[in-house]
Amino acid sequence: MGKVHVFDHPLIQHKVTYIRDKSTGTKEFRELVDEIATLMAFEITRDLPLEDIEVETPVQMTTSKILAGKKLGVVPILRAGIGMVDGILKLIPAAKVGHIGLYRDPETLQPVEYYFKMPSDVQERELIVVDPMLATGGSAIEAVNSLKKRGAVKIRFMCIIAAPEGVEALQKAHPDVDIYIAALDEKLNDHGYIVPGLGDAGDRLFGTK
Ligand code: PRP
Ligand code: URA
Repeated sequence: MGKVHVFDHPLIQHKVTYIRDKSTGTKEFRELVDEIATLMAFEITRDLPLEDIEVETPVQMTTSKILAGKKLGVVPILRAGIGMVDGILKLIPAAKVGHIGLYRDPETLQPVEYYFKMPSDVQERELIVVDPMLATGGSAIEAVNSLKKRGAVKIRFMCIIAAPEGVEALQKAHPDVDIYIAALDEKLNDHGYIVPGLGDAGDRLFGTK
């Protein structure tokens, strides 16, 4: 079963409170999502492998660590996932970015795929699929299905707010995928919105309604 990690760092919790607030406007919402993504990227990269290199300081030669050149990929689920990409790339600028376009049909809540573009070596990359919201789990499950169909094998999922229903569904559908969350909320409402949540992440990021 995929592990669930809740990143409850005080800075992350503080910023999540402000994106929940309905009086937070588009500009501030976007900035906060970007900052939360950077803080989450700091936590999710904790287990990246390191290797030793020799470096000459002004004082003497020494052995020191650098990242062992793991190939990473960030995969935002459009639209709202785009809001997290730059924040992650601030810490891992060499990562490639693939995009998956999905929207939830408002009636059935089923995900509909409209775009898919990955780096050509997607099979070799360790992928972090990102979306601010994990609600029913349908979009995340479909995104992982699409990636696996193209040969991806190492996939993690990172979101800001998750509902227990979505976590359970994603774990069941893809037990090999670990899930990284900033806040685990109470439930879904009858319209498939996370409670208390933050409303529609895409609309709040891009100022649409
Ligand atoms: C939102 C959100 C997720 C999805 C989560 O996107 O950004 O992708 O819903 O819901 P689920 O877990 O029930 O699938 P939406 O479908 O509203 O599309 P948008 O990003 O284009 O607004
Ligand atoms: N998508 C959102 O943007 N918000 C929710 O609460 C659920 C799905």
